[in-house]
Amino acid sequence: MGIKILGTGSFLPPTAVTNDMLAERIDTNDEWIRSRTGIGSRHFADGETNLSMATIAANEAIQTAGIDKAEIKLVIFATLTADNFTPSMACLIQRDLALPEDILAFDLNAACSGFVYSLITARALLQGSGGAALIIGAEVISRIIDFTDRSTCILFGDGAGAAVIKADETKEFFFSTGARGDDEALASPSAMLNENPFVRREAEEPAFLKMAGSDVFRFAVECSAKSITEVLNKAGVQASEIDYFVLHQANERIIASAAKKLKVPIGKFPMNIDKTGNTSAASIPILLDEMNKANKLKEGAKVVIAGFGGGLTYGAIYLTV
Ligand code: ACO
Repeated sequence: MGIKILGTGSFLPPTAVTNDMLAERIDTNDEWIRSRTGIGSRHFADGETNLSMATIAANEAIQTAGIDKAEIKLVIFATLTADNFTPSMACLIQRDLALPEDILAFDLNAACSGFVYSLITARALLQGSGGAALIIGAEVISRIIDFTDRSTCILFGDGAGAAVIKADETKEFFFSTGARGDDEALASPSAMLNENPFVRREAEEPAFLKMAGSDVFRFAVECSAKSITEVLNKAGVQASEIDYFVLHQANERIIASAAKKLKVPIGKFPMNIDKTGNTSAASIPILLDEMNKANKLKEGAKVVIAGFGGGLTYGAIYLTV
């Protein structure tokens, strides 16, 4: 059993920061960033919250789906930069979009693989139900960026994307996932301070994202190609038959390396990283929405969706649209 993508939506905050603007503050330049990552600019929340961006993207997804909100029985909100630990972002979406109360609503943290993990989870939970699911990926990743660390602050951007899906027996859906616990390659410490007066407290460190860039690069190339190969084998489909490979937008060179490993022309890998940077869990739904608006998600199209990131986590889905 597969899924039907009924509608999509996205939102990028209007404040755009170019590589040249970053270079005014840190020792970097447009040529280095473009050639190493493919990024030209990114958007940063300036007053927008994770919830406010997600609400806009989710509303658009519901509108383009053309369904009654009462049909939504599941909300999964993928993020690693939630506005709060509780209430969950998914619960606040239920309230702000006036969704029915008889739903299952929760947040999911699988970093940049969050949307892939969420789609797999949603498809499992929708089995045998006639209901629809609202899947959101949204990040204010600028909150956890150390803007004095030139090797990470140039990579990321904020934004939100969403999709409304339903179970559909006429569609194909296969997946392959992985998790490799690792807090050295990529980690963002908890922002919570322990103010318990009865216990000894360790000195708190700033809660910034830290990343061993080249280790993560190698992991991303290895695991994206591995999970895509695995899912295509499960589905019995050749890479050459795929219309689009929708990969997490982390770095143009990671995508180009995966394309080379899979022996697929790079033209089959849509990209928007030039203007978004790495928006973590939001990157795949933002790109899917752009593709949908460009009428690329045509009925019957064969699509691979793949994510990789903090956790470490990775996963790939093969589906027919
Ligand atoms: N501007 C100029 N020079 C820089 C910059 C910069 N912004 N950043 C680093 N450099 C320098 C380094 O200091 C180093 O200089 P040195 O040789 O004098 O020491 C040199 O450039 C090369 O540094 P590397 O780290 O080896 O550069 P690399 O080619 O590996 O590119 C990058 C770095 C872009 C971070 C790359 O490793 C990468 O993209 N990694 C993957 C990151 C990623 O995609 N993460 C995704 C998951 S994120 C998530 O899940 C939340």
